[in-house]
Amino acid sequence: MANQRTFPPSELLCCPRCQSPLKADRGGACASCGVAYPEIGGLPWLFAEPEAALGEWRARIHGFLAGLESQAARYRAALTDEVALASTRNRLKLLASACSDHARRIRALMAPLGVGTGVAAPEVYSALGVTLPTGQGLASYYANLHRDWSWGEAENEAAYRLVDAALGAGPPGRTLLLGVGAGRLAYDLHLRRSPSPLVAADLNPLFLLAAQRLFAGETLELYEFPLAPRDLASHAILRRLRAPAPAGPDLHLVFADVTRAPFAAGAFDTVVTPWLIDVLDEDLAVFARRVNGWLRPGGRWVNSGSLAFGGEAPAHRYALEEVREIVAGSGFAPVEPTEEAIPYLCSPASRHGRIETVVTFAATKTAEAARPPPARRAPAWLERTDLPVPLLPEVAGRQLELRVLAHVASLVDGRRSVRDVARVLVEQRLMAEAEAEPTVRAFLARLHEESRARASVAP
Ligand SMILES: C[S@@+](CC[C@H](N)C(=O)[O-])C[C@H]1O[C@@H](n2cnc3c(N)ncnc32)[C@H](O)[C@@H]1O
Repeated sequence: MANQRTFPPSELLCCPRCQSPLKADRGGACASCGVAYPEIGGLPWLFAEPEAALGEWRARIHGFLAGLESQAARYRAALTDEVALASTRNRLKLLASACSDHARRIRALMAPLGVGTGVAAPEVYSALGVTLPTGQGLASYYANLHRDWSWGEAENEAAYRLVDAALGAGPPGRTLLLGVGAGRLAYDLHLRRSPSPLVAADLNPLFLLAAQRLFAGETLELYEFPLAPRDLASHAILRRLRAPAPAGPDLHLVFADVTRAPFAAGAFDTVVTPWLIDVLDEDLAVFARRVNGWLRPGGRWVNSGSLAFGGEAPAHRYALEEVREIVAGSGFAPVEPTEEAIPYLCSPASRHGRIETVVTFAATKTAEAARPPPARRAPAWLERTDLPVPLLPEVAGRQLELRVLAHVASLVDGRRSVRDVARVLVEQRLMAEAEAEPTVRAFLARLHEESRARASVAP
């Protein structure tokens, strides 16, 4: 059983919902708005909507586990008598057993979230949008776990060296590290730079629950599934993950969404954002002002990582010049970023690896920036699940689209031809005769293609 990590000092925290001070030493309920924040595996669960976040992560984990089990079944089904090559049989057997065993191990690791066994079919999670990996899902950046705690010594050292240099000689003081991931940089900073305390946050429970056990000195065994396996045995490798030594009590892990964050204004001397700003689901121009708000006057923001902004808004996919202007315009002194090419996720078991030119800067807070409101405030009907859900015109349009999709897909019964399906649509006055057949033909081709592509996704 993992050692319990201590709760961060309460003066560093606030209620992520109403921003009032979080008085209780160990979570509990906010004295102002009454929202109760549970502990998960001994770590504070400081999401603005804690119950909703818990339910969503449980569903995501169930979807992930169901996906692994169906992947295992697919590998077993592929092992027919027609597969003559002994090495192919061995590869399929390895992958089938690794997927099942991996599901068992992830379920055990995620047990503190109350992950159950009686869950829906993978198709239900897929249809309702909680099947991973997508966006900031359970398995996003999963390879980082193996890099951090198994084979990534050179990469970890390079990442630490850049942040260490940007921090400069003085003590980092009260430090907030956002998007801690699997935790290696936080661990190295904790041991080598002694920030006091170091509060490290992330929203992904797979990372935090693994990091917590590793910080306590435990060994974890989890599979790596490399992107481009070097040989047969590399398709699924059971790795031993372990920290060089247990971490001390000054390193605190917290579950939090940094865009609705539980951190007190002006409470930190240093904020570190490693490989975060370009993957965040928030405009950097807004997030930079949040970072400003958590720092005391004269405090420093150290950022290091890629600048591969992938958000949907074209205006927010910033170039380095824009990043510098945004930082300087958010209450920080002008920055002089360094750029250095370092290896990134070059697993020894994979033929695939990257070289990334990493941008690092340290920005000193010179002025208070206007504090942005918390992001993604849910509408009343989402916060209170007993209220009616509004039927907006765009939702009505989408309902019709989904009904047509389900109807046409349900007409495929193994007996009807394209012509038969088209005829049903014409009889039901859904389409004109002239266009029904080509449309149905193109739709069914796409349906088959998409279904095959989904079925062949590797773990
Ligand atoms: C590219 S990974 C980097 C992880 C780690 N810093 C490293 O360098 O290995 C980005 C991390 O940010 C986390 N993250 C993304 N959006 C977040 C949010 N809104 N709040 C908290 N963490 C977030 C992800 O879960 C993930 O662990």
